[in-house]
Amino acid sequence: MAGRFIAFEGGEGSGKSTQARMLASWLEECGVSCDLTREPGGTAGAEAIRALLLDPPGEGWGAQAEALLFAAARADHVARLILPAIEAGRWVVCDRFLDSSRAYQGGAGGVGDADVRALHAIGSSGLLPDLTVLLTVSPEVAEARTHSRDGDVVDAIGGRPAAYHAAVAEAFATMALAEPARFAVIEGGEGPDAVHAAVRAAVAPLLEEAE
Ligand code: TYD
Repeated sequence: MAGRFIAFEGGEGSGKSTQARMLASWLEECGVSCDLTREPGGTAGAEAIRALLLDPPGEGWGAQAEALLFAAARADHVARLILPAIEAGRWVVCDRFLDSSRAYQGGAGGVGDADVRALHAIGSSGLLPDLTVLLTVSPEVAEARTHSRDGDVVDAIGGRPAAYHAAVAEAFATMALAEPARFAVIEGGEGPDAVHAAVRAAVAPLLEEAE
């Protein structure tokens, strides 16, 4: 049986990376072989593109170039890691995927949803996760968490103005409303264990199907 593909999405400081790690170890404990990966990145080529995106040379990327680079990184990640794993029956837990491009580049960056999806159709055959867990936190919680984690060091995208990140959050919320069957929206402001319990509940139906 083919594996399952679960993505975590949300703004900066929403706890995605912690929750992706916790879910992957829980799945392994349940006897499910699981690959934990992230975007941008996950393969050598995509990690090289990640460095270009988060620490851009020169004056930085325009919105369209940025969207193309994310799509290129994703195409490599899908072709070399995600699809082979799923086809081999492994589950993939990914920290960010297409919906980050839709929210950041498409929504906040102004590229538009249709164009981001067109790039995804070309690069990654339009692959979508079986389940997308959207973690939501207030801007105050997000700011406190990123500050305690990163201090004053910000990357080129995380360091954009509050209005950009508000537009990201709004775009995520709109996507989740439009596709309720694919999205589980979970309030991420609680402690990691409480959020993990909610994530497990959202993943349980996929596990039952696989049994
Ligand atoms: P990362 O350090 O992984 O941030 P976080 O811990 O918040 O996930 O850096 C990823 C950054 O790239 C983050 O600011 C979101 C952004 N991003 C996009 O703008 N578009 C995308 O498609 C993806 C995958 C990430």
